[in-house]
Amino acid sequence: MVRKRMLEDDARRLLGGSPVAVVSTNWRGVGNAAPIAWSMPVSVNPPLVAIAVHPSRRTHDMIKFGEEFAINIPSKVLLNHTQWLGMVSNTIGDKLEASGIPTFKGKEIDSPLLEGCIGWIECTLHDFYTMGDHTLFIGKVVSAQADTDGFDFNSGMWALDDDEYKPLMYLGGRSYSIMNDGFDATVEQRPVEQMIEEGIGRELEEAEAERRIKREEEAERREEEERRGEAEPDTSSLPRELPDA
Ligand SMILES: Cc1cc2nc3c(=O)[nH]c(=O)nc-3n(C[C@H](O)[C@H](O)[C@H](O)COP(=O)(O)O)c2cc1C
Repeated sequence: MVRKRMLEDDARRLLGGSPVAVVSTNWRGVGNAAPIAWSMPVSVNPPLVAIAVHPSRRTHDMIKFGEEFAINIPSKVLLNHTQWLGMVSNTIGDKLEASGIPTFKGKEIDSPLLEGCIGWIECTLHDFYTMGDHTLFIGKVVSAQADTDGFDFNSGMWALDDDEYKPLMYLGGRSYSIMNDGFDATVEQRPVEQMIEEGIGRELEEAEAERRIKREEEAERREEEERRGEAEPDTSSLPRELPDA
C-alpha cells in the first residue's frame, strides 16, 4: 500500500459514492430539477436534511424564494437523465419538461416529484447558511415515500435485491456506481468495559492480520520494482476539469 498525498480540494472525492439526489423545485408555478450529490441527514427530531447548492444554479434561487424542495432518489434507470439534468441549467429553458421525465404531485409541497425514482423526500425550507462557495439549505422533511421494490420497509433499509431498484451513487465527473450487496458486521455486543479490556473481536483481528500481510507483500513488490527502476514516480493529480461536485 502506498499513501499518496492529494490536493485539499480533491478531498471531496474521498467522500464520493454517496447517493445522488435529484432536487426538484417549484417557484411561481415553474418546476425544475438538478442532481445534487452533496446531501445528508442532519437531525432526526425534527427530521432535517441538508443539501449544498452553488449560488450559480437556478435551483439555488428557486429554493431560496420557493422555500421548499424535494429530494428524488434515482436508480440507474435514470442514469443519463440525471447526468443531463446536471449539464444544463433551467436558466436557458424548461429543462425538466425537455428531459421528458414524467412527474407527479407531492403530498405536501408544490415541487414536482419525478417518476422513475425509488425514493422521494419532500421538504420545506428550514434554514440556510453560506458555507464557503456553496449554500447549505436545511430542509424540514414533511413527507417521505419509497418504492417497495427498492426499499425494505421491514428492515428500514435499501433492499439491494434488484440493480434497477438500487440508489444511484455518484463518484465524480460522469461516473456513477450502485451498491453491490449488503452485509452485517459480526462484532458481538458486550459490556463496554469488557470490550475495552478484551479489545476487538477475533474476527476483526484475523481480518486485520490478513490485510497487514497483503499490505506488506504489496510494499515488498513495489520496493523490488523500484529497485529494478520499473516503477515511475506518480506525479499526476486528478483531472482539473472535473465539475464542482
Ligand atoms: C451527478 C451530479 C451531481 C451534482 N452535484 C451538485 C451539488 O452537490 N451541488 C451543486 O451545486 N451542483 C451540483 N451539480 C451541478 C448541477 O446539477 C448543475 O449545475 C445543474 O445544471 C444545475 O441546474 P439548475 O441551474 O437548473 O439548477 C451536480 C451535477 C451532477 C451531474
